[in-house]
Amino acid sequence: MDFPNCTVVDHPLVKHKLTVMRRTDTSTASFRALLEEISLMLGYEALRDLKLREEEIETPMARTTGWALDGKKLVLVPILRAGQGILDGLLQLVPSARVGHIGLYRDPESLGAVEYYYRVPANLEDRDVIVCDPMLATGNSAVAALQRVKRSRPGSLRFVCLLACPEGLTNLREHHPDVRVFTAAIDEKLDSHGYILPGLGDAGDRLFGTK
Ligand code: URA
Repeated sequence: MDFPNCTVVDHPLVKHKLTVMRRTDTSTASFRALLEEISLMLGYEALRDLKLREEEIETPMARTTGWALDGKKLVLVPILRAGQGILDGLLQLVPSARVGHIGLYRDPESLGAVEYYYRVPANLEDRDVIVCDPMLATGNSAVAALQRVKRSRPGSLRFVCLLACPEGLTNLREHHPDVRVFTAAIDEKLDSHGYILPGLGDAGDRLFGTK
């Protein structure tokens, strides 16, 4: 299947690290560290078009022209709680980014997203915003989070996840055709409980050791 709204970050290191993350016997500490490492690589691709301005600088040898990030500070919005794992990697890339949070839980019956918390930096206008969550499963949480953030009129909006599946990508594209998704892999399908197959289980439980 073709997903024109999605960029799969296709790299041997991403594939290797993701495979270790999928394994049942991978420890919480390793899972956490690997999610952070992969998030760095996802962020590298997701931020390819960051705007730059030229800057005159002096090296110990000469005057020259370099580059500095231009424009307002980037805003990162993890979906609580598992999105925090991706946030840590993205913040290593862009330590000056501002951070918002959105709390959504999945209604176990309807699998719909219910919002319980929302706090983002003021004035999202003209800012590039990245919403992140490891698993794009049904896509309901991502769709709801993006809808909520769009009410603050961000300059641009992207979605970064570790794993996606066809159902989630289709749902997200139907509701937010303007939002590009960056992921490490697109898995086969969802099971009847809304879990990604083959997936890696519950990303929040594996990240925080709450299983
Ligand atoms: N959330 C998870 O943590 N894992 C899945 O497979 C689907 C949703």
